[in-house]
Amino acid sequence: MISTLSFVHSGAVKRGLQASGAIPSRFTVGDAAVQPTVGEPFSDQARMSCRQVNVYYGAKQSIIDVSLDIGRNEVVAMIGPSGCGKSTFIRCLNRMNDTIPGCRVDGTITLDGVDIYGKEIDVVPLRAQVGMVFQKPNPFPKSIYQNVAYGPKIHGLAQSRAELDEIVETSLRRAGLWDEVKDRLDQPGTSLSGGQQQRLCIARTIAVSPEVILMDEPCSALDPIATSVIEDLIGELKSQYSIAIVTHSMQQAARVSQRTAYLHLGKLLEVGQTERIFTRPRHPLTEAYITGRFG
Ligand SMILES: Nc1ncnc2c1ncn2[C@@H]1O[C@H](COP(=O)(O)OP(=O)(O)O)[C@@H](O)[C@H]1O
Ligand SMILES: [Mg+2]
Repeated sequence: MISTLSFVHSGAVKRGLQASGAIPSRFTVGDAAVQPTVGEPFSDQARMSCRQVNVYYGAKQSIIDVSLDIGRNEVVAMIGPSGCGKSTFIRCLNRMNDTIPGCRVDGTITLDGVDIYGKEIDVVPLRAQVGMVFQKPNPFPKSIYQNVAYGPKIHGLAQSRAELDEIVETSLRRAGLWDEVKDRLDQPGTSLSGGQQQRLCIARTIAVSPEVILMDEPCSALDPIATSVIEDLIGELKSQYSIAIVTHSMQQAARVSQRTAYLHLGKLLEVGQTERIFTRPRHPLTEAYITGRFG
């Protein structure tokens, strides 16, 4: 746990780092030249590997040459100012950008070595393998049971009603919701509180046996208590899944992630062990962001 986020480099330390070459001194905001990412973008336990990913909306480029791995049993937090490309980037990881007209992704993204943009890839099973939880809880207008059972049914994961019941129960247990809903499985998903709905959406994602879970600001519509329940859950889920989470809360990134990636104007400026990023950022713009000078 990181106790302070208020660490500030002295100017002298920063100048020293720049002189030593640790910080690319010619980098400025809006600099067109692509600078190498500072830190450790790669993992020797990678599940997903992104290499030189560029994303365009029409003529406008929103992700610039991003290379990053998401490791096994790892939570990677994506942070950065609003509009820097966090959502755009994680949507590349399960091809959600395919659904946006005019959006084009290039570069290479693999899951366990398989190119997810390959010709033979069917996006429906891909989006089960790389599941996504959104900012606003979005249960289907169906019962709690049906919300969780729907995915396993369409993906043919259960041979019988008993098997389906088991998947539903296991998924709800893993999402920390079973005890709260086991006596009301036939009630609408939308009858739950916001925090419960988000856990229902997590159960729905888990039910189709994903490898990777993407979360785009999953707590931003929740109160602090529901947020802390989801954060604890993320800590438990990483024993089984790889997780990429977008958050605008640096405290949340510090609490839940092992690595933190700092995006700025579509570029991945810095990535590294979360504790290191928040106590000894190497890029001056990472430092400026985490010390609250902009964002
Ligand atoms: N559907 C879209 N069409 C056009 N531009 C978009 C679309 N979605 C995002 N953008 C642009 O891409 C950039 C990154 O946006 P986004 O990924 O939403 O950032 P973040 O999640 O970090 O706030 C912004 O300039 C935004 O305006
Ligand atoms: Mg976003």
